Amino acid sequence: MSNAPGSKTELKSRIGNVEMSGAENELVRIRPMTESDLGAVLEVERLAYSFPWSEGIFRDCLRVGYCCWVLEFRDLIDGHGIMAVGGGESHILNLCVRPASQSKGFGGRLLTHLLETAHSHQADTTLLEVRPTNTRAIRLYEGLGFNQVGIRKDYYPDEGGREDALLFAIELSNLSPN
Ligand SMILES: CC(C)(COP(=O)(O)OP(=O)(O)OC[C@H]1O[C@@H](n2cnc3c(N)ncnc32)[C@H](O)[C@@H]1OP(=O)(O)O)[C@@H](O)C(=O)NCCC(=O)NCCS
Repeated sequence: MSNAPGSKTELKSRIGNVEMSGAENELVRIRPMTESDLGAVLEVERLAYSFPWSEGIFRDCLRVGYCCWVLEFRDLIDGHGIMAVGGGESHILNLCVRPASQSKGFGGRLLTHLLETAHSHQADTTLLEVRPTNTRAIRLYEGLGFNQVGIRKDYYPDEGGREDALLFAIELSNLSPN
């Protein structure tokens, strides 16, 4: 199997920073989000973001059929990822991990899962926006092979104003088929 930049093998091997025993690894599960998860998802969302999404936004994402996933660790929802796919492109709209569970590799696992999902839906490219001040997220994205391709002016709400977004992209064409 190819280990070229962006390949599936490489994506998996890049999640090597996970500080977990094999047994703990087996307690991590990524599964589709359902409406009954929304209470736990909103709890994580509100803990992790200064400007969290509303319940209505999550409901809309489920209703229109976006790819909505949760990450469970020991049967507790610890993260979520939401992505729109269509027309050969995919767009990650939300990637979020419970603050107490960050830096354990969960964000990398969710992101890798989203990229594999995008590839299985015949997307060639995945895009996402990130605040320039979100250095942890940017390290994660660059570590997995994303590159900055643009800036969206005044994209995010911020205390007393707006903040630009950095637009990142990754080509999925090197991923091996599922
Ligand atoms: C961004 C976020 C999802 C990352 O989740 P996480 O579970 O902490 O992510 P991981 O543990 O997989 O990776 C993050 C860390 O590993 C490092 N890392 C992971 N994979 C890496 C790789 N392949 N190469 C280099 N570094 C890597 C990151 O640099 C980062 O380091 P740090 O935690 O020591 O600063 C999480 O911080 C979060 O939910 N933040 C709040 C919401 C948010 O900002 N979401 C992103 C919106 S664009």
